[in-house]
Amino acid sequence: MENFSWECSTRVRSGQGCVREYLAEMVRTFAPGGQNILLGYGGGSVKKNGAYDDIMAVLTEMGYSHADAQETDGCGPCSYKIVEFTGIMSNPTLAKMLEGAELARRNNIGLIIGAGGGSVMDCCKAVSVQAGYDGDAWEDFWMQGKPMTHRVVPCGVVVTMPATGSEVNGCAVLTNEETKIKCDRDYPEMNPAFALMDPAYTLTMPVRQMKAGTFDILSHIMETYFSWPLEPNPADDISEALMKGLIRDFRAALADPQDMQARSNIMWTASLAENRIIKTGKSKDFQAHNMEHQLSAYTNCNHGEGLAVLHPVYYRHIYKAGLAKFVSFARNVWGLTEKDAEGFRVSCGSTMSDDEALALAGIDALAAFIQEAGLPTTLRDLGFGEDERKLLPEIAESCFISGGAFRPMTAAEILEIYNECW
Ligand code: NZQ
Ligand code: ZN
Repeated sequence: MENFSWECSTRVRSGQGCVREYLAEMVRTFAPGGQNILLGYGGGSVKKNGAYDDIMAVLTEMGYSHADAQETDGCGPCSYKIVEFTGIMSNPTLAKMLEGAELARRNNIGLIIGAGGGSVMDCCKAVSVQAGYDGDAWEDFWMQGKPMTHRVVPCGVVVTMPATGSEVNGCAVLTNEETKIKCDRDYPEMNPAFALMDPAYTLTMPVRQMKAGTFDILSHIMETYFSWPLEPNPADDISEALMKGLIRDFRAALADPQDMQARSNIMWTASLAENRIIKTGKSKDFQAHNMEHQLSAYTNCNHGEGLAVLHPVYYRHIYKAGLAKFVSFARNVWGLTEKDAEGFRVSCGSTMSDDEALALAGIDALAAFIQEAGLPTTLRDLGFGEDERKLLPEIAESCFISGGAFRPMTAAEILEIYNECW
């Protein structure tokens, strides 16, 4: 395996009722003596799933008051306030992050709490970086990847949608609408200070969102697993177990979206996929993510759905370069055997080797599962029309190329993949 450093500094508290149980302790730890709090959220789902009420109940009990109430009631300066940063959109923009950072500076914020899915968490994590920085955080960290040495304002999260694993990693994805670049960066300094994960909040997620988010989790595991080294190793052993469990829980949640056991398992799997443990010693591909991020930068398509369209097509392009891993995937995740390899060979009238046939049968099993889950399988399913199709060459040119892949892509091959996804 490759050399690695591993750390995950986030304090996780999981389970039903965990916000009421642990938020006060987290606030006392990360805003000692009381400090103004910025509460970030999206389009309002937090007000329906219970997260907002739980957070406000705890903070009010601690003596915090809403900034609006302070203005009208004339509360004294000794009372710390909660400032709301609302309307964080899916695929958050750089402009939105800058708005949050300005709000944080203006209100002397000492702790940021982001309540929502990956978009809210990412945006709040990025705000925590920019709020304490005098320079241009996008340029210095997202574009240039400079070391982060300034003090980041502590940021904790309340997760309402499992998908990105943003709650336990230092990654934040932003879209610069002017340059049309969607870019992720992972800094240990950006790991949330704490993550409160109540699976009951996820029950209000629309089924479409649940499917997209769960596929995103599977994608994070696959993007890591399908990278060097090919030899068996502890990280890939964990990944295989996580993929099998996630497929089981995904099926259970599709059959009964209110299945709390399945929803709890999916929520924790999202974190286990992204707390960097399965990345130890791996080169990490994430080319499918790079290709999806640029589709999203140009069209604002849904992240998990875009990945569902891209994965099987991308893997049919690269499987030969990482054959042993694709064979293990077929055997250990989908339970396929030589009999399935033979069946695959016969179905396409080919004389390919057992390993190749098994690898391709494994990719077919993945594609069949995507269909079974009712996820989109073509760019047209994502809502792309002729206008978007014309943009594909430009989008392909704009993709970051992964350095950890079995075989590096070129813009020309990415365009081929996009066209095959049409
Ligand atoms: O805006 P609100 O009202 O919160 O509604 C959201 C949003 O419309 C809704 N939602 C969330 N929890 C809900 C709920 N609706 C009902 N009940 C609930 N309990 O779901 C919609 C989608 O939310 P969003 O946060 O956009 O989804 P997701 O978690 O998939 O995040 C996507 C973003 O994360 C980035 C993606 O690129 C995209 O920008 N990623 C972040 C990563 C990371 N930080 O590690 C890695 C990922 O690969 C990914 O790139
Ligand atoms: Zn993702």
